[in-house]
Amino acid sequence: MSEWFTNERAAGMSLFEVAHGCTRREKMKEDPADGALFNAGMVADSRIIMDALLRDAGELLRGVTSLVDVGGGHGAVSVAIARSLPHVRCTVLDLPHVVAGAPPDDKVEFVAGDMFEHISAADAVLLKWILHCWKDEDCVKILRRCKEAIPTRDAGGKVIIIDIVVGSGSQEPISKEMQVLWDLYIMYVDGVEREEHEWCKIFTEAGFSDYKIIPVLGFRSIIEVYP
Ligand SMILES: C[S@@+](CC[C@H](N)C(=O)[O-])C[C@H]1O[C@@H](n2cnc3c(N)ncnc32)[C@H](O)[C@@H]1O
Repeated sequence: MSEWFTNERAAGMSLFEVAHGCTRREKMKEDPADGALFNAGMVADSRIIMDALLRDAGELLRGVTSLVDVGGGHGAVSVAIARSLPHVRCTVLDLPHVVAGAPPDDKVEFVAGDMFEHISAADAVLLKWILHCWKDEDCVKILRRCKEAIPTRDAGGKVIIIDIVVGSGSQEPISKEMQVLWDLYIMYVDGVEREEHEWCKIFTEAGFSDYKIIPVLGFRSIIEVYP
């Protein structure tokens, strides 16, 4: 970190690149052990939050019969939704090398693809821990693909984002500690933390008309975005 603060060349990189000589995404792709560790971490995170999410946010999936979990990794979120709400057809879209390592599940379909290119049609698209990894212009591209995948608002179409909205979330001390660790993680991967007006800007640019922020799960929020 000291190099990052004091060396001009290092300052232009993420903390991860300073430490490892490549980006987080390159490391995951090139080092299978690192990718496996990362995916296991995401599965653990999803298991922790899905109970709370399905309990507190049951309304969220009311009327939804199909869902694409974009960048859904090894599918822990989709598996939890498919087990709890069997009428919801769940699809996980992720990069080919990630899908290749995902444990098969009889209730969830895994599709290898690129969210910048195409997202298959569904009532709802889920983006959990995705958009903080990308700059605004990339988020707008991803969200445009999401909008193409879902029906109109009247027909129940929505994008569900699980991420951080700075200033939203719980004010409990444990959440503050987690927020500080999260800030460090965002510096480490060169990610982006957004306040509500910054989220609103990318939604508008991607052609969405409205959104609703639901603070849940400690310092995280759910954002429902409507076409
Ligand atoms: C931070 S992880 C989140 C995983 C999962 N959504 C969760 O919360 O457990 C980001 C995911 O996005 C995937 N990803 C990155 N670029 C992608 C792309 N172009 N198309 C589809 N998925 C992508 C990564 O492989 C990774 O699984």
